[in-house]
Amino acid sequence: MGKSLHRGPFPSTRMRRMRASEFSRRLMRENTLTVDDLIYPMFVHEGSNSREAVGSMPGIERLSLDLLAEEAKLLAKLGVPAIALFPVVGDARKSLLAEEAYNPDNLCHRAIKTIKDAAPEMGVITDVALDPYTTHGQDGIIDDSGYVLNDLTVETLSRQALAQAQAGADVVAPSDMMDGRIGAVREILEDNGQPNTRILAYSAKYASSYYGPFRDAVGSAGNLGKGNKHSYQMDPANSDEALHECALDLEEGADMIMVKPGMPYLDIIRRVKDELAVPTYAYQVSGEYAMHCAAFQNGWLDRESVMLESLLAFKRAGADGILTYFAKDVALLLNQ
Ligand code: PBG
Repeated sequence: MGKSLHRGPFPSTRMRRMRASEFSRRLMRENTLTVDDLIYPMFVHEGSNSREAVGSMPGIERLSLDLLAEEAKLLAKLGVPAIALFPVVGDARKSLLAEEAYNPDNLCHRAIKTIKDAAPEMGVITDVALDPYTTHGQDGIIDDSGYVLNDLTVETLSRQALAQAQAGADVVAPSDMMDGRIGAVREILEDNGQPNTRILAYSAKYASSYYGPFRDAVGSAGNLGKGNKHSYQMDPANSDEALHECALDLEEGADMIMVKPGMPYLDIIRRVKDELAVPTYAYQVSGEYAMHCAAFQNGWLDRESVMLESLLAFKRAGADGILTYFAKDVALLLNQ
């Protein structure tokens, strides 16, 4: 009888050996989170020296442009690569056709210039969608029945994206989910001398209930009322459809892909990264932020470690960067 290959009663593989000391844990670590991974979404409003707390997003404020300038300088110093801008537009400037979206002097365009003046190296990402500018809070132009009209909306979105690029946006980010908008935006940028404006396509954007606090923050919740975005945003049940959307947007000229929301959709990030191998970003959205904060405030979760773990999970899933309302706090932590 030959001797058993198994050398004894001990486990033949001790996975814990490599976990036993910090040095070997560090050596085998597969993913890291750095400030290079962070994009900070910011809400701006009219006025001066004015900051307004967003009730459902503790620690997040709407800022007037003078305060935005100060924040942009601080974020640049912390090494945060980019800010994603979201304007809070007054009711008087909203309309059925969302003309304010491409007004060269609108709040968003002034905010872009404000950041570029304060911190020229800061990347500025702007949202291409009509919801801040429509009286009904939908991302596009509607017909009498309330249906969002695709092609008419795409025309307005293209004008909006061009106006943002002309105001100095480095990245335009269509978050509207209309068909064909990436191609139309790419074409208008090329035709008007903006060949280097990057397009971050919200390709896999789901009709999610996690956006609630954001709609409070930009003040579109009331306008949207009981309306929903199911006829253009994706069904949370699907993932093949997300790959189809991403492939189309890449074909039409997207430079980067966004998956949104974030944590409940890590499987989508992984599939996009594995199958398409392009720069892929995730949005840890307002509802995800709000529920984390609620647990922190109750003392149910540890703020620092959970914040870091939640973002590291995006890296493990394959994301190249994360839009997160934690960006500033995490950058402060990582700079310590
Ligand atoms: C709208 C837009 C939304 C978000 C970013 N851009 C909301 C929506 O689609 O209704 C949500 C972001 C968040 O929840 O943090 N174009």
